[in-house]
Amino acid sequence: MPLLAVAVGLLALDAFVLWLVLSGAPYIPTKKAGLEKIMACCGDVSGRKALDIGSGDGRIVIALARAGAEAHGVEINPLLVWWSRYNIRRAGLSGKAFIHRHNLWNFDCSGYQVVTLFGITHIMKRLEKKLRRELKPGARVVSIAFKFPTWPVAQKNEVVYAFDQT
Ligand SMILES: C[S@@+](CC[C@H](N)C(=O)[O-])C[C@H]1O[C@@H](n2cnc3c(N)ncnc32)[C@H](O)[C@@H]1O
Repeated sequence: MPLLAVAVGLLALDAFVLWLVLSGAPYIPTKKAGLEKIMACCGDVSGRKALDIGSGDGRIVIALARAGAEAHGVEINPLLVWWSRYNIRRAGLSGKAFIHRHNLWNFDCSGYQVVTLFGITHIMKRLEKKLRRELKPGARVVSIAFKFPTWPVAQKNEVVYAFDQT
């Protein structure tokens, strides 16, 4: 009986992990060098409203808030939501950086002028459609490692790509 419970538990965990991977990207934190390139591609974010899609442990949200943005993250994994909120408090950025526990596909991105993401190949087509539909002209999207299928690259810094909403 305990063995059956363990097997069911493991299957449920596998299904959850598979669902996480298919609905977005697995958790791979951006390294320091990548973070610097992302921030350079974002330009001057001071006074702007910025969003990190799939915000992980909050490192990009924290960097955006430190650079003067009103920084938001949307993250589906409850553990990472808890951890990133803890990191924000520890960084003294409460009131400047916010994490929303949400599925990115149901999250309204229309109010953001700067959007960052570290996605995965299979979500880029759908994400391009969503962001092009929702973002206002002048908004900038900065993507690490993955390009959108049809959105022209406005700026490139090694493996970091910027896209401008027109
Ligand atoms: C590659 S990690 C990037 C983490 C962070 N942005 C960074 O660069 O360090 C992708 C993140 O997206 C989150 N994620 C995956 N699917 C998601 C979804 N449908 N909605 C919101 N977040 C999602 C994962 O939990 C993970 O934390």
